[in-house]
Amino acid sequence: MENKPIGIFDSGYGGLTVFRSIFEQLPDYDYVYLGDTARAPYGNRSFQTIHQYTWECVQWLFKQGCPLVILACNTASAKALRNIQQLDLKNEDPEKRVLGVIRPTAEVIGDYSKTKQIAVLGTKGTVQSESYVIEIGKFFPDITVYQQACPLWVPLIENGEYDKPGADYFVKKYLEEVLAKSDQIDTLLLACTHYPLIQQKIKEYLPADIQVVAQGDIVAQSLADYLQRHPEMEKSISKNKTQQFFTTTDDTADFDHYAELFFGAKVHSGYAEIKC
Ligand code: DGL
Repeated sequence: MENKPIGIFDSGYGGLTVFRSIFEQLPDYDYVYLGDTARAPYGNRSFQTIHQYTWECVQWLFKQGCPLVILACNTASAKALRNIQQLDLKNEDPEKRVLGVIRPTAEVIGDYSKTKQIAVLGTKGTVQSESYVIEIGKFFPDITVYQQACPLWVPLIENGEYDKPGADYFVKKYLEEVLAKSDQIDTLLLACTHYPLIQQKIKEYLPADIQVVAQGDIVAQSLADYLQRHPEMEKSISKNKTQQFFTTTDDTADFDHYAELFFGAKVHSGYAEIKC
């Protein structure tokens, strides 16, 4: 039987925190995860480059048979999704679908806040795109969003320094910067798929009355709703409970080592050669 998995894409490992939640909520489907670790991080790259890299990876996932691809990366969702949905898919294959993580998060995040003041922490690319300010504004016009770029968090996490004492300085630094913007913030959104790895450290440096929200469960719930609302798509996805992992780095053992930290289970990846 032909494999028609759900594709999950991230610039590197971070999307595995989202995949983990998706797999917990929707264990019956087949999945292919692709991390573009050879070209990560995307966070500081230009709009054009992020679009080009993301589209190349999405096309690779389509070649693996995926009818649906989730961009489990805020930076790619902020800077590439619109072009992919509105231009690329029309030319490539209008039957295929690509979804991101920003809209599903924006749809619900306002419900978490009583003070109606939310801090959104992400990469430079995500913050500069203003995607969260725009999207949250559509669903919750009375919410004020304070953004904070945390450019050093992804390198700390990807280099395995996230739980070491050196990380504390940078965790504190960005939290102090965002909290200085308002004393009414009661909700802090981790708008980068890597940040759940430092969630505990973040909590240690936050006042107890500020809640920290990670995206994994929100995106997983949104995907479950999407599949219910789109039975043709749901039927087209194969359901053999398989998971495959691919990285664009030829050192797959290195990927497997870090991937386990993000996914919470052993990972055995293959090498995906993306033609540039
Ligand atoms: N996974 C990306 C995100 O959610 C961050 C990593 C990167 O900068 O490539 O924004």
